[in-house]
Amino acid sequence: MSAGFARTGGELRCDGVSLVAAAEQFGTPLYVYSAAWVEQAYRAYDAAFAAVPHRVCYALKANSNGALLRRLVRLGAGADIVSGGELAAALRAGFPAERIVFSGVGKTEAELQAGLDAGIGEFNAESEEEIRRLSALAARSGRTARVTLRVNPDIDPRSHPYISTGLRENKFGVDLALAPELLRRARALPAIEVAGVQCHIGSQMTDLEPVGEAAKAVAGLSRQLLAEGFALRSIDLGGGLGVDYTGEGGPDPRALAACILPAIAGLPRKMLLMLEPGRSLVAPAGVLLARVLYVKENRGKRFVILDAGMNDLLRPALYEAFHRIEPVIERGRPRSEADVVGPVCETGDFFARGRLLEDVQPGDLVAVRDAGAYGFSMASNYNLRPRAAEVLVEAGELRLARRRETFADLVAAELDA
Ligand code: LLP
Repeated sequence: MSAGFARTGGELRCDGVSLVAAAEQFGTPLYVYSAAWVEQAYRAYDAAFAAVPHRVCYALKANSNGALLRRLVRLGAGADIVSGGELAAALRAGFPAERIVFSGVGKTEAELQAGLDAGIGEFNAESEEEIRRLSALAARSGRTARVTLRVNPDIDPRSHPYISTGLRENKFGVDLALAPELLRRARALPAIEVAGVQCHIGSQMTDLEPVGEAAKAVAGLSRQLLAEGFALRSIDLGGGLGVDYTGEGGPDPRALAACILPAIAGLPRKMLLMLEPGRSLVAPAGVLLARVLYVKENRGKRFVILDAGMNDLLRPALYEAFHRIEPVIERGRPRSEADVVGPVCETGDFFARGRLLEDVQPGDLVAVRDAGAYGFSMASNYNLRPRAAEVLVEAGELRLARRRETFADLVAAELDA
């Protein structure tokens, strides 16, 4: 049986559990996640790369709910983090420090120091200046920092421009051609161990050819560095595997492995292959449940107004991203086109425009699908809206994983100035 969301008797359910009951118990907007789906997705990665030593470092930015993180820890995952906050969340959830890799183009000194103090596995450095700063901090703290260098191979991931990272014009990584020079200088620095090369060319990649190309480029660079005597321990090929938001079935970890494994075949067997998937481990595991507040027509255009908004799920507003929107209970009503929008005072506050949708009525529940990644994690309090609650479905039960915020939460950090 495949885990996650499916219809029985016209009702969309999560691993057999009623979403209507979830909304009644916890209110809306509500994120609902399938623990079983995440486990299944993690195991699919593990199985696909079983032929080589590997580590799947979950990218916390996709969804950092502690309940999900603790389950990934139990499955043996590592963590890919990009801030001091994510470091704290990873440690709190129980990820062993040596399985944590710290990525990001702008780490502060305080963040580098926190990583050193925690004894994390690798720093994914993005500039020579960062390595120098890390060296100084590590030497001062009597530690050695293990560094992987993020390279920019100038390969087009054929994804949305906002989430393409491997092109020369993007801010990420260092020019692949300059990497050997840079690493020769880096290895001469105190308290630095050069552990490998990393690359992540983009997110939501459904065409995997660029991934294979990038893997070849990074493997080639690794071979050159090994020949020069660098004692490389790992090769990190980032995240980026896309999901099919239309629900028809996209690429899977096996397809990813078929691109990556041949590219790295010539490297020493003992080198650890590191991956940093976020979206593909959690996106289809989650929905955003919302209730229809109003349905109105303006000059022949129909608007379905939900109680969830762009502050809850930003992806459609920010990237014009497509998410399926389905009534939780299908009543067989006629379908017509509608703009599905939120209550936020912005024209950009929409979930879908001109979407063919069953004629829902005020009070109906709808599910915005594939919202497990970059949903809650990008949520805000805009319009002073408390962030939604998050619920985990596991073993046929609903478990509240984060309560809905209150007004008191929203003003907790304000002072009487
Ligand atoms: N590693 C690094 C260094 C990254 O920058 C990212 C994502 C990942 C791993 C995980 O990539 P994934 O497997 O999730 O594609 N907010 C956007 C996505 C931004 C991705 C940023 N970096 C969205 O909602 O589509």
